[in-house]
Amino acid sequence: MGGLTRARPAPTRYHPPPMNILGIETSCDETGVAVYSTERGLIADALHSQVDLHAVYGGVVPEIASRDHVRMLLPLIRQVLGEAGIEKPDAIAYTAGPGLVGALMVGGGMANGLGLAWACPVIPVHHMEGHLLAPMLEDDPPEFPFLALLVSGGHTMLIAVHSLGDYRLLGTTLDDAVGEAFDKTAKLLGLGYPGGPALAALAEQGDDKAFAFPRPMLHKPGFDFSFSGLKTAVMLEVRKAEAAGKLRRDDVAASFQRAAVDTLVARAIKAAEAYRLERIVVAGGVGANKLLRKDIAEHFDGSVFYPRMEFCTDNGAMIAIAGALRLAEASPADEIRVRPRWPIASLDVPRPAQ
Ligand code: KG4
Ligand code: ZN
Repeated sequence: MGGLTRARPAPTRYHPPPMNILGIETSCDETGVAVYSTERGLIADALHSQVDLHAVYGGVVPEIASRDHVRMLLPLIRQVLGEAGIEKPDAIAYTAGPGLVGALMVGGGMANGLGLAWACPVIPVHHMEGHLLAPMLEDDPPEFPFLALLVSGGHTMLIAVHSLGDYRLLGTTLDDAVGEAFDKTAKLLGLGYPGGPALAALAEQGDDKAFAFPRPMLHKPGFDFSFSGLKTAVMLEVRKAEAAGKLRRDDVAASFQRAAVDTLVARAIKAAEAYRLERIVVAGGVGANKLLRKDIAEHFDGSVFYPRMEFCTDNGAMIAIAGALRLAEASPADEIRVRPRWPIASLDVPRPAQ
């Protein structure tokens, strides 16, 4: 037999077909829906905020939240599919947790029901992973690895992100989340709910050196946070100033914001340096805070990435892109998975699509 060998065809790389992913967010008090195209990026996005419904109660009422998600979800889905110019998506991603169980069930039930009706795969997404991946929606997305500073109403976390799903939790809050501290301080100052944005606006007119509030945990080792001491210090000063009849709310707001932001910035930069990470991603509702965005960019030697303002707070676009990146994990809808408590460090690195 001669030594004739037939040239093998060069292996072709697998190119998944372009897909449109519908993202559904209902973990708390915003109904967020969006369509992300793996080819064209974000092609439709809609948000309904329930803030007015909860404001009279001074915080989120879970039952009211669930009912309003039921009312708004389907019309918003119709709206974004119309805007995207498609009849149905190729996959559906929904927030499966953490969050309010009833609110999560509305999104989970809808996503899985539509998945059955449209015979398309359904992807359960971790809410904080959505926040963490939100900067990937921008024109200049961060590359892995990076440090994520996740700051919202329920979480304050520093995470070393090595790749999709490879998340090492470096630090978290021992008590209140930073957004919660903003909201509680705002309430104390009579600013209503949610107080974060209102407090930040008032702080712009105040003197941030008027009160020397504590920078909690800054001199302790490790990367954990604590905000309850700061909250108490603010409360004591407000009572004292009120009793003396000279409360300057703008000075309190500015000094509180300065102490909270100093703590976040110092802790995040220390963690990035300790783990030799050259990029920091700031995400979650408090990531909309202008002082935080300015200070971290000013003090960190590496690059800082944020989502655009409207994608810092809860939205459907971050769930849609997280779903797009996790498409390999999509499965036929055979159960509704929601996890009101769900540690982000327990997520897996997705297996490549077959
Ligand atoms: O991520 P998010 O929309 O919902 C949760 O997952 O919690 O974050 C909401 C939190 C609230 O505590 C709100 O007061 C805070 O983010 N927040 C702000 C600002 N905008 C929203 N905190 C400080 N400064 C802001 N500009
Ligand atoms: Zn959130």
